[in-house]
Amino acid sequence: MSIRLRKIPQDLQLKGKCVIFRMDGNVPIEKGRAVDGPHGRIARAAVDIDWLLQRGARVIVLTHLGRPNGKRKAAYSVAPIAKRLGSLLGTKISVSRTLCGMRAEHAVANLKDGQILLLENIRFDSRETENDSEFAKLLARLGDIYINDAFSVSHRKHTSVNAIAKEIPSYAGPLLSNEVNVLSQLEKNTKHPFVLLMGGLKIETKLPVIEHLSKQTDQILLGGALATTFLAAHGVSVGRSVFDAEGVEVVKKMSKDILEKIILPEDVVVASSFRKDAKKRIVVVSAIGSRDRIVDIGPKTHEHFIKLISQAKTIVWNGPFGYCEIGSFCDGTRAIAQAIAKRTGAAVTIVGGGDTGPVLEQMKLADQFTLFSTGGGAMLEFLAGQTFPGLEPLKIYDVQNT
Ligand code: 3PG
Repeated sequence: MSIRLRKIPQDLQLKGKCVIFRMDGNVPIEKGRAVDGPHGRIARAAVDIDWLLQRGARVIVLTHLGRPNGKRKAAYSVAPIAKRLGSLLGTKISVSRTLCGMRAEHAVANLKDGQILLLENIRFDSRETENDSEFAKLLARLGDIYINDAFSVSHRKHTSVNAIAKEIPSYAGPLLSNEVNVLSQLEKNTKHPFVLLMGGLKIETKLPVIEHLSKQTDQILLGGALATTFLAAHGVSVGRSVFDAEGVEVVKKMSKDILEKIILPEDVVVASSFRKDAKKRIVVVSAIGSRDRIVDIGPKTHEHFIKLISQAKTIVWNGPFGYCEIGSFCDGTRAIAQAIAKRTGAAVTIVGGGDTGPVLEQMKLADQFTLFSTGGGAMLEFLAGQTFPGLEPLKIYDVQNT
């Protein structure tokens, strides 16, 4: 499927225009600070906001943070996002406590060309997740045009990504356009060998991707708890390792065609606990003890996976291959990251997932891929061929492959 989105016209007069800009500032907040690296969601949105400000636009930024369920909760305030965005843009950003109505309209009216206002967490209003057209109309009153630059939340049918875009002239922002472009090319012009790598835990979010892409992929390499689920389904004793018990039944019912493409770890790193100081051992999977926990892939597996990566022309990776919260259990994930980054240029390399991002930032590899997606769930849903409510109102056309 090839998707064409309405981009901001080059000649669009932005000076003095009020631009409603939907970004995804949903990043972890630690001790009141937004955890956002140089290639984080806020940092990347800041580039596009800056572009608008430089052209004299008055930018009204919308974002969600967490899932406050329609209630105003201090822990979910966007204040840390305002701080991070402000330091990136070199300006102090005020937060409007009200999302719409007279007060918000007044705050917007006070903006001058090249100034920015951040609205409080859009999910403080329960109408956000209801895709409410009346709420959309009220929000739309704040701006002349609307830009969606939040790929990572565009899989949600929410007011600030769907209903609002039908109210005023709306465009896809550069960050969103690029993600959609790269991801949709994947199905159209796949170069082979195509290696899909999946880690993480929940099979329910990964399986639709594996199924949807299975025809195009040449090999599907699994790591993390996802691989453990497959090992358990194949009757391997996995000791005390974390895996998706319900997923075991799902794997048992998987088609032979898909299972034939799946490559599981042949050796793993096991530890007696998930503690930093826990003693580690490398074992072949048939030798996992009853008290062992799998914490990483083993060196033989690295080697095998890296060899396949080094021959691939298309590589898609989502989810860590070990328990990366503990640095010493992250060697496999790091080796994989390094190997994929090395292929960029010779291969199309696409990586993403909330838990993978911090590892890539830490390794200073985040800009070494064809695409480092801002999306966690969104990337998976896109790869699984799902329709995105946030993209629908921005589409010029949508061509099915024949
Ligand atoms: C994400 O972090 O994946 C996006 O911000 C979407 O958040 P949500 O899953 O709470 O809708």
